[in-house]
Amino acid sequence: MAEKLVLVTGASSGIGEATVKRMLAQGWIVYAAARRLDRLEKLASSGARTIVLDLTDDSSICAALAQIAAAGGLTAIVNNAGYGSYGAVEDVPLDEARRQFDVNLFGAAHLIQLALPLLRKAQHARIVNISSIGGRIHEPFGAWYHATKFALEGFSDCLRMELAPFGIDVVVVEPGAIRTEWGAIARDSLLAQSGSGLYAHWARRHAGMLDQALSARLSSEPDVIARAIELALISRRPQTRYAVGGGAKSILAIRRLVSDRMFDRLMWAGSQSERNSRFDHFQSPASGGGV
Ligand SMILES: NC(=O)c1ccc[n+]([C@@H]2O[C@H](COP(=O)([O-])OP(=O)(O)OC[C@H]3O[C@@H](n4cnc5c(N)ncnc54)[C@H](OP(=O)(O)O)[C@@H]3O)[C@@H](O)[C@H]2O)c1
Repeated sequence: MAEKLVLVTGASSGIGEATVKRMLAQGWIVYAAARRLDRLEKLASSGARTIVLDLTDDSSICAALAQIAAAGGLTAIVNNAGYGSYGAVEDVPLDEARRQFDVNLFGAAHLIQLALPLLRKAQHARIVNISSIGGRIHEPFGAWYHATKFALEGFSDCLRMELAPFGIDVVVVEPGAIRTEWGAIARDSLLAQSGSGLYAHWARRHAGMLDQALSARLSSEPDVIARAIELALISRRPQTRYAVGGGAKSILAIRRLVSDRMFDRLMWAGSQSERNSRFDHFQSPASGGGV
């Protein structure tokens, strides 16, 4: 059997780490990439080949692919690295928005560009892009994160068509709420950007909603997503999309059923009292806010 070699980005934590473990167990050769090499040591001792990779740095991306090319080839890439940059659009500096796009979209795109000559040589090569249900729904304070994931969805559909003639399949995985470091990073960025000032009232409320969505009761373990990624990598004919874990299927079903404004209301915690509290806040002389 031909060797199976996969590069997994964002392998130092959460979904990426769980994916590396699964693919090692499947007998694949796994390149585990991230910025924090110390966090990859355990995977290295389990047999993963570790690579330092910073997706905001073009030279780091080129060096990672050069290392893989020199070692042989590549059968698949799992573009998993990413983070949630949250905050009101008015508050988030554009440099941070660009960084969010560099990590969640352009870094993955650059890796794909460099890997394609290697993937073309493999039989049944795969590109698995880890999007989010956030690539198909919206929420307040997530404009830049959702923009990157909506973009990754469209990018992946176009790429799937372009690469079909070469026998390279492109699959999107859309996690729901998963218990990883993602939640704390998203919450902290929201509070750092908008935890004070005009949006503070709702930003703090939304930070609480993020915490709640990622609580043990509502969220899934990262291995649930790793299993979907494994399916995307090993199935003869994978689905184009896998929406899995932490309410993914039900939230997307609701999104298909309700209007944009109805979904806005649901995301604002849905209740009339929430709408009133927003209105009260704008009316309150103490709030400093105004419309
Ligand atoms: N957790 C969820 O609820 C959830 C839901 C939907 C979608 N997702 C998506 O799933 C993917 C994995 O997230 P996760 O939940 O596993 O989060 P996580 O535990 O925070 O892991 C994120 C990974 O991305 C890497 N990363 C961050 N910035 C990077 C950079 N500049 N260059 C290279 N690597 C970088 C991190 O490694 P280093 O810091 O060591 O570089 C880390 O290994 C992300 O794309 C995320 O948007 C997550």
